[in-house]
Amino acid sequence: MTPLIEAEGLAVNFRAPGGFLGLGHHRLAILEDVSVSVRPGKTLGLVGESGSGKTTLARALLGLVSRARGEIRFEGRPVDSFRRLRRKTAMMFQDPIASLSPRLAIGSAITEPFLIHGVAMTSRRAAAEELLALVGLPKEFASRYPHELSGGQARRAGVARALALRPALVIADEPTAGLDVSIQGEILNLMTRLKAELSLSYIIVTHNLAMIRHVSDRIAIMYLGRIVEEGPTAEVFAGARHPYTASLIASEPIPDPRRRRQSLAITGEVPSILRRPSGCEFHTRCPHAQARCRSEAPSLTKSTGGRSVRCHFPLNERFPPKLSDFGDKETRQL
Ligand SMILES: Nc1ncnc2c1ncn2[C@@H]1O[C@H](COP(=O)(O)OP(=O)(O)OP(=O)(O)O)[C@@H](O)[C@H]1O
Ligand code: SF4
Ligand SMILES: [Mg+2]
Repeated sequence: MTPLIEAEGLAVNFRAPGGFLGLGHHRLAILEDVSVSVRPGKTLGLVGESGSGKTTLARALLGLVSRARGEIRFEGRPVDSFRRLRRKTAMMFQDPIASLSPRLAIGSAITEPFLIHGVAMTSRRAAAEELLALVGLPKEFASRYPHELSGGQARRAGVARALALRPALVIADEPTAGLDVSIQGEILNLMTRLKAELSLSYIIVTHNLAMIRHVSDRIAIMYLGRIVEEGPTAEVFAGARHPYTASLIASEPIPDPRRRRQSLAITGEVPSILRRPSGCEFHTRCPHAQARCRSEAPSLTKSTGGRSVRCHFPLNERFPPKLSDFGDKETRQL
């Protein structure tokens, strides 16, 4: 099946002040060689620590930041201008209250996409009420202002605005961040129901592994602006192949205090993107790093089960590793 959206070899650079005597600028490589795809009706989870480039990738996919390299295809066709794509996609931003204009009543905010894209409505009031009903908010909310909404209500308004033009793809940046657990569940149930009703695809950006495990079909794990592992969610959780994924999963809090997990939590600071480590960029924190890792950068390689991993010595591979994969004296149990 043709993916709904696909990116191949995406790179995004930002400029930061600096350089010679502080007069020039540094070129910061924020995303490097990122390839992702989402099939119609499916959910891709995008996971990684703060600063790993999740929001930048989400924005680059919609053309909200420009790319230095790479191709984006939507419904199988290369995207040169983002106009067509923007009507069929929508972004739910990380902070819903801040992303709604404080002076715009909710009814106006959620119907703004009609005006931005020049799409006719029978009446703005009717369109607003229909969208509010879709996300389970009373129609009186049309005349409320963002500061009058609770976190959960603001999220619902964010969903309503995203769905105004009935997109095929919604990119949700941290859709449950800052919400109580019960409200998080309500928002996820709402998103799941709407996905089925409206045949949506989602890209969900999050730190929350427990949540993404339940709602995504596939996950991509990012580290310093690169995807280090990608695959079907259940299988990645059942047996992570990249040591970073394994550490992330192991460092998730476990609700039952009687169960203690072997401590594999990631140690050490995330390196600065100004000083990317040589070779494999995870080697400064990787419990399995070997000599080769410090000098040679691994590429994202397809492995069994529709999975990809960026590591010289992947964990949990089904086929036996070659002896030559190991350093001189260092070996490790697989
Ligand atoms: N406009 C910008 N100019 C320069 N650097 C930027 C800019 N926006 C983001 N960055 C840098 O790009 C990197 C990736 O940022 P991004 O916001 O995409 O990460 P993230 O994974 O979404 O993080 P978080 O989980 O905290 O939201 C960070 O190092 C950040 O400092
Ligand atoms: S390539 Fe080496 S340092 Fe990088 S994740 Fe794999 S084992 Fe660890
Ligand atoms: Mg972000």
